[in-house]
Amino acid sequence: MEDLKCCVTSCEKPLDQDYWDAQYKAKATGWDLGTVSPPIQEFVDSIQDKNSAILIPGGGNSYEAEYLLQQGFTNITVIDIAPTLIAVLKQKFDNHPNINIILGDFFEHQGQYDWIIEQTFFCALPLTMRPNYVWKMHQLLAPKGKIAGLLFNREFEEGPPFGGNKAEYTNLFSGAFTINKMEVCTNSVAPRANSELFIELEKNTAAEVHLYTFEGITCIGCKATVSEKLAEIDRVMNVNMNTNFTEVIIASEKEVALQKLQETVSYDEKYKIIKAN
Ligand SMILES: C[S@@+](CC[C@H](N)C(=O)[O-])C[C@H]1O[C@@H](n2cnc3c(N)ncnc32)[C@H](O)[C@@H]1O
Repeated sequence: MEDLKCCVTSCEKPLDQDYWDAQYKAKATGWDLGTVSPPIQEFVDSIQDKNSAILIPGGGNSYEAEYLLQQGFTNITVIDIAPTLIAVLKQKFDNHPNINIILGDFFEHQGQYDWIIEQTFFCALPLTMRPNYVWKMHQLLAPKGKIAGLLFNREFEEGPPFGGNKAEYTNLFSGAFTINKMEVCTNSVAPRANSELFIELEKNTAAEVHLYTFEGITCIGCKATVSEKLAEIDRVMNVNMNTNFTEVIIASEKEVALQKLQETVSYDEKYKIIKAN
């Protein structure tokens, strides 16, 4: 059971709607920069098409959305799970026709976007959600759509935020996305200097990405073996299982039949793989 420690933080502290709303009610928003993040400002300045459909998940006080509006972008969506925050945003943007403010769970959101802006949303999620994040991002992006923004390039003692590094992110996003850019930022705000990667990840439209629930694994060694066996299946491009071994995403050139997946893991009768999407 030692290996299960990797999910202890997120298991002990559910990062759900109540948790996030309580942070806004208590004004415990240490992540809030109070202004648009400079690397994202620079990125926004580089987008040519002001009618691009842009999503900002977990947008918080949405300085990035405000900047997009100021620059004349016409199709901006912000989704956040915290009702207290969303009430403030609705007042702030006052039914502006170019921005849609949604109270909701990103993982249940439906839509098609040209760009999804990442700014301290990924790092706010429990580690167990990371493969699910990749799957959902792939779903929400239009063909050739891209994620752009920032990921932490460091670890934290206790999350959120939860950190990571380039190798880990490359392994996580490969197959489902083409990594156009993943490099240390040179214009981060001072407290985050040298600890952010700017990313531009393009949806790989040649990949089908599917999410499965998994039962029966209890240790990291078994996770590695199962992942290797799934990755050996013909036309599979990448396999990522989450940190508590309950979900796995498979990126492949063509969807693998569920029966084939079940056969592949049937060497241990405890293992069950079930399609989640
Ligand atoms: C660390 S804050 C970052 C906010 C903002 N991006 C910023 O940089 O100031 C994470 C945000 O994600 C939101 N959030 C967490 N889980 C979410 C979910 N499943 N769907 C939508 N929003 C979520 C929280 O309410 C919070 O506003």
